[in-house]
Amino acid sequence: MSIPHREVPHVPYVPTPDKVVKKMLEIAKVGKEDVVYDLGCGDGRIIISAVADFNAKKAVGVDLSDERLKEAEQNALARGVRDKIVLKKNNFLDEDVSEATVVTLFLLTNANDLLKPKFEKELKPGTRVVSHEFEMRGWKPKEVVKVEDGNMHHLVYLYVIGEHT
Ligand SMILES: C[S@@+](CC[C@H](N)C(=O)[O-])C[C@H]1O[C@@H](n2cnc3c(N)ncnc32)[C@H](O)[C@@H]1O
Repeated sequence: MSIPHREVPHVPYVPTPDKVVKKMLEIAKVGKEDVVYDLGCGDGRIIISAVADFNAKKAVGVDLSDERLKEAEQNALARGVRDKIVLKKNNFLDEDVSEATVVTLFLLTNANDLLKPKFEKELKPGTRVVSHEFEMRGWKPKEVVKVEDGNMHHLVYLYVIGEHT
């Protein structure tokens, strides 16, 4: 189902620190069987780490910004993983995520709210949803991890479809 674009909240670009990227992929137990989707992929750091550091089979980054997608492409080329990455210019609310075994997010709570019914419809049981900083309101996390990075504290929420209610 396509959700009208007027419902899309404004989500600014703020990159996830590398230490948090690693923790997100670690608690999701990303491995060689996984297809990882980052909705609002920015410069591609999460999808690139998923394939380069965690050996995911494939990773898909979705973003609306041409500039970010270009950066993601250049970064994937520089890490030698361009062939394992798919980059898509799309509104994440319109992206079919049924292929994902792991979905990563660093959006806003109201954007997560809009994604919840889509995830419940499209994602298979066992799919992990990992969100940096913003919870999935009303869902039961499997794990909440605090990551300290310098003087900053970050929260990472892990949900597993089928165990989230
Ligand atoms: C907070 S940044 C997170 C970037 C990256 N996931 C990370 O953690 O480093 C949010 C990203 O979402 C993108 N974005 C915002 N609204 C979007 C939408 N409706 N569809 C696709 N991407 C969107 C922005 O361009 C931005 O790159």
